[in-house]
Amino acid sequence: MKIAVYPGSFDPVTKGHVELIFRAATLFDKVIVAVLNNPEKHPLFSVDERIELIRDSLAQVDTDATSVEVDSFGGLLAHYVKERGAIAIVRGLRSTLDFENELQMAQMNWALYDAASTVFLPTDAETGFISSSLVKQIAAHHGDVRPFVPAAVVEALTRKYS
Ligand code: PNS
Repeated sequence: MKIAVYPGSFDPVTKGHVELIFRAATLFDKVIVAVLNNPEKHPLFSVDERIELIRDSLAQVDTDATSVEVDSFGGLLAHYVKERGAIAIVRGLRSTLDFENELQMAQMNWALYDAASTVFLPTDAETGFISSSLVKQIAAHHGDVRPFVPAAVVEALTRKYS
């Protein structure tokens, strides 16, 4: 079984992430969406909230996501990928700005664990400009985030910033 890990902060999950999850699910037998447990980065949503929001967001899309698992991890991604028996790390590329950082991370992860390769998927043109940080800024100022995040996340952001 070809397993891929799609790691990220997902604070919160966006429509760009969801699109990428479904695309990755067509390429691998199983995709593990792995939420980084990073309390030192002071995320807006807890790990449990982020996991729940991803699950709700996937359920809201009328596509078969039975091959998608949502989990969390702490420590090194390379260790988690090995533990889960994955052969690939999926990362989305929005632009050349992403590429510089992503290439370095991919090479470092390869140096740490060379049984898994990083696979870059270009983001969809319709969602490629979305970022969780910008979405949080917009929500904090009571802007309309509905075009950028799934409905479950719209509700969660509204609750956080009300
Ligand atoms: O959504 P993000 O914040 O861009 O995801 C970054 C993530 C989670 C992929 C990266 O920070 C990560 O892998 N962190 C785990 C710690 C680790 O393995 N660091 C070395 C990476 S080369």
